[in-house]
Amino acid sequence: MKRKDISKLTVDDAKTELAELALLLSTANTAYHGQDEPEIEDATYDALKRRNAQIEAKFPELKRRDSPSDQVGSAPASGFSKIKHAVPMLSLANAFSAEDVHDFADRIAKFLGVTTESLKFTAEPKIDGLSLALRYEDGRLVHAATRGDGETGEDVSQNALKIPSVPQSIKTRLKVLEVRGEVYMTHKDFEELNKRQKIAGEKTFANPRNAAAGSLRQLDATITAQRPLAFFAYAWGETSADLSETQMGAVNTLSDLGFQTNPLMMLADSVEDLIQHYTLIEKQRSSLGYDIDGVVYKVDDLRLQSRLGFRATTPRWAVAHKFPAETAWTRLTEIEIQVGRTGALSPVARLEPVNVGGVVVSNATLHNEDYIKGLDGKGNPIRDGKDIREGDLVQVYRAGDVIPKVADVDLDKRTNDMPFDFAQRLSELGISAQRAEGDAVWRYAGDHPMDEVAIEGLKHFVSRQAFDIEGLGAKQIEMFYYDPDLPVKRPADIFTLQTRDDQNLTKLANRSGWGKTSSENLFRAIDEKRLIPLHRLIFALGIRHVGEIAAKLLSQTFVSWDMFWDVVEKAKSSEDARMTIENIDGIGPIVASSLIDTCHSVSARENILDLVSHLRIEDAQILAPSSSPVSGKTIVFTGTLEKMTRAEAKAKAEALGAKVSGSVSAKTDMVVAGPGAGSKAKKAAELGVDIIDEDAWIEMANSK
Ligand code: IVH
Repeated sequence: MKRKDISKLTVDDAKTELAELALLLSTANTAYHGQDEPEIEDATYDALKRRNAQIEAKFPELKRRDSPSDQVGSAPASGFSKIKHAVPMLSLANAFSAEDVHDFADRIAKFLGVTTESLKFTAEPKIDGLSLALRYEDGRLVHAATRGDGETGEDVSQNALKIPSVPQSIKTRLKVLEVRGEVYMTHKDFEELNKRQKIAGEKTFANPRNAAAGSLRQLDATITAQRPLAFFAYAWGETSADLSETQMGAVNTLSDLGFQTNPLMMLADSVEDLIQHYTLIEKQRSSLGYDIDGVVYKVDDLRLQSRLGFRATTPRWAVAHKFPAETAWTRLTEIEIQVGRTGALSPVARLEPVNVGGVVVSNATLHNEDYIKGLDGKGNPIRDGKDIREGDLVQVYRAGDVIPKVADVDLDKRTNDMPFDFAQRLSELGISAQRAEGDAVWRYAGDHPMDEVAIEGLKHFVSRQAFDIEGLGAKQIEMFYYDPDLPVKRPADIFTLQTRDDQNLTKLANRSGWGKTSSENLFRAIDEKRLIPLHRLIFALGIRHVGEIAAKLLSQTFVSWDMFWDVVEKAKSSEDARMTIENIDGIGPIVASSLIDTCHSVSARENILDLVSHLRIEDAQILAPSSSPVSGKTIVFTGTLEKMTRAEAKAKAEALGAKVSGSVSAKTDMVVAGPGAGSKAKKAAELGVDIIDEDAWIEMANSK
């Protein structure tokens, strides 16, 4: 390839080329040192390394952390580095019936203010693999990342290069093109791989999806190279220009660029067409040669997709119509009670292991006492009102990654004449518990937190969406919890591990399973997490009802830990502070009470403050571009909007960082009034609030 004269490189050129060289040289390195076939000649390797050094000399500020200049041999495999996705990688909402699909289309039509009949959709198989983002700059693959938590994924560039259907370079004029799709393994390749693994005495995989995931996420890419992986492209992330006006057109463009796209993708004019295509794909499912678990429908018009936008974790413009769950019959040997981090006592069915659609299942969730009795949350019968007993023959079903459930009980085969008594079992186990009125769940009510509760809380604390500390997973938490020399009983203890280790005669490094490197790596991984984004910290606290979404809303609202804590502290006695929390869109009284009560319990408060003293907490980044003229403002829509529906106007305003309120008050910043606006516009005028019409609103919303 002819490379530009270094003196003519722009900053952007240099950045792209340094990224490309880092990938190229480290791939060559891994291939060479990993005894794989060397992919480039020594002379070429040296020339590229020299060029890298020359570019770095001209643009020292662009030198990468993984610069080839700093590397000798292949980097030790000490985990993947992280890549922040330029555009988040989201998941899809599910539909399980034709009715759900009709609802999906109607919801979209309503949001856009058009008829359902006017919409066109694409339909394509939902590949059961793992998603991968491939970033091309000036047509060259610069990195590849897994989905991770949707915001940050793992850098699997070396591995992706080993997939034959992933092009290393593409002919495009786009400066940036991030292609997204699914990595999968065919049934044939999966069976052959398992055979080879068995012969070699290596572990075999439960299903093609696990095999694909295990093969892509190999620290040693030479192993990936021996695994038969494939890639279907079906979406994109950042692009420096539009790919097309339609979903179908964009996927065709990807196909023209050399990506494998799915031949069963089609365009549908109506919901009936979608269902017909679903039935057709379902019929072909067993002969496709690879696993699919449903059909994905997407609004074809990309302008409409962008108007529809996203909910917290899923786009409004797409849905996954899942195939019915797989089922199998097996014996339920025991009902066990598990304790969650919030003290919830959940029954779990232990099963004689059974293969359900390619996955061996030995546990199923039983939710709560009523579910075991055959009643749903409203007291209506489920499973025709059949209860579940230990020893029963039960039908288990699983759909996708969801925890298996019990669908049915064979009463003819029942031998146990004792219904399961939840309260009695708890007392036999010596667990003091309560079930509050209106709550389906029994909760631990002892004086001291049970070890199980504390351990679950710690596991949650280090989980992927929370602190995500490399090398400190569920297994290590259990070990440290009971460790007599270096106990970790609460989150703050994690951050004193190293100082305690320094003072301790029995070093972690001398224990079984721990060496010098692994303990140093652990302490380093912990240190890295002393700087933590606010929303991760709030989520990590494991407060009941405060999930990831609530944690994000709270962090977006209060921005800094000090502001957040100040309001939570005041909320116990100040109604104003409590309302500030309750009034956050998407929070409400239940979440607010749980948050306030937990943070005011003496032990939780102490634990939190102690933890925080070890951390530096990163302020939330305000999502809305600060340049948006409506960012941070409270807007009221009134009267008839003629160019967009209320739902769309609200979603747009919120996406720009505004808050939408239903009533005008002194806190209102702006009223958008359409024809027929009445009392609200009048009140706004009295209060001196800005009133604008729909056209002015659209102009403002689009002005950025
Ligand atoms: S579109 C904004 N299309 O399903 C969401 N996803 O459950 C874009 N998947 O994370 C995703 N086949 O890994 C899309 N044809 C397809 C798909 C597909 C499989 C996966 C993907 C996604 C997950 C969501």
